[in-house]
Amino acid sequence: MLDSDSQVVERRELEVLLLRSQRFEAIGTLAGGLAHDLNNLLAPIRMSCELLKRKNPDPDLSRFIDIVQSSNDKARQSIEQIRGFTRGSQDAQPERFEPARLLPLMRNFAKEQEWPDSIRLKVAAASDLPTIHMDPGQLLQALSNLLTNAREAIGNASGTVELQFSSRTFANGLRIGELEFIASRYLRIDVTDTGSGVSVENQAHIFDPFFSTKPKGSAPGLGLSVAAAVVSHAKGYIDLHSQPGNGARFTLYLPEKAD
Ligand SMILES: Nc1ncnc2c1ncn2[C@@H]1O[C@H](COP(=O)(O)OP(=O)(O)OP(=O)(O)O)[C@@H](O)[C@H]1O
Ligand SMILES: [Mg+2]
Repeated sequence: MLDSDSQVVERRELEVLLLRSQRFEAIGTLAGGLAHDLNNLLAPIRMSCELLKRKNPDPDLSRFIDIVQSSNDKARQSIEQIRGFTRGSQDAQPERFEPARLLPLMRNFAKEQEWPDSIRLKVAAASDLPTIHMDPGQLLQALSNLLTNAREAIGNASGTVELQFSSRTFANGLRIGELEFIASRYLRIDVTDTGSGVSVENQAHIFDPFFSTKPKGSAPGLGLSVAAAVVSHAKGYIDLHSQPGNGARFTLYLPEKAD
């Protein structure tokens, strides 16, 4: 490939990464505000139910109060999930750390999560990985969500999930309006699976909170949005390559933190 060709490819890749991270920020702000408002609206309903129950209502009325209370509890759980996804930056305890520190945990992941023998997890890492600055627990959470999705995409078939740590240096920066990508060295983490892949249509929504192709009500559909929010709080980027029926690869880029 000619040098200018590779520059064009890198530029396109950066455009996608930048625009996607801007979208995460917008969704995060919207979801955080909504969760806050809804919580305020639910509080008086909860308190009124408590007060009504203290008045020893007849059994019929009591049943209806129970229904309202149980719906209220479910709504609060959903709000907690949204808050968990938007909270990232406030609760994060960032520190500077060597990503190789996570490898023993990741190597144990399949066993710990009781993956069947038909699904193999391969973990590989380059020797000279950039040091990063973020909450290690949050990165583990993001990787755990991606690995779980990869395992689910393989389902009952046999297959392989690969987790690879390497580094990538972007030679050129990019600016689109307010958005800016500063060229530098990044920790690159790929999670690749041989599963079902993602349809082109679903690729457009896959990082949205509450997007799921699982049966209705069986999963919150927050795994990828949480991973994306964690990466975005660490000033990183997330990317997806997939051909339906031919597996998927999620790539994280996390900026190097030199001393
Ligand atoms: N590796 C993958 N291969 C194929 N499809 C995937 C992969 N990862 C995610 N998806 C698709 O993206 C959807 C959203 O993923 P996400 O992790 O956000 O939610 P979920 O797995 O459905 O539910 P949850 O993670 O909350 O239990 C999934 O339902 C699935 O359709
Ligand atoms: Mg998931």
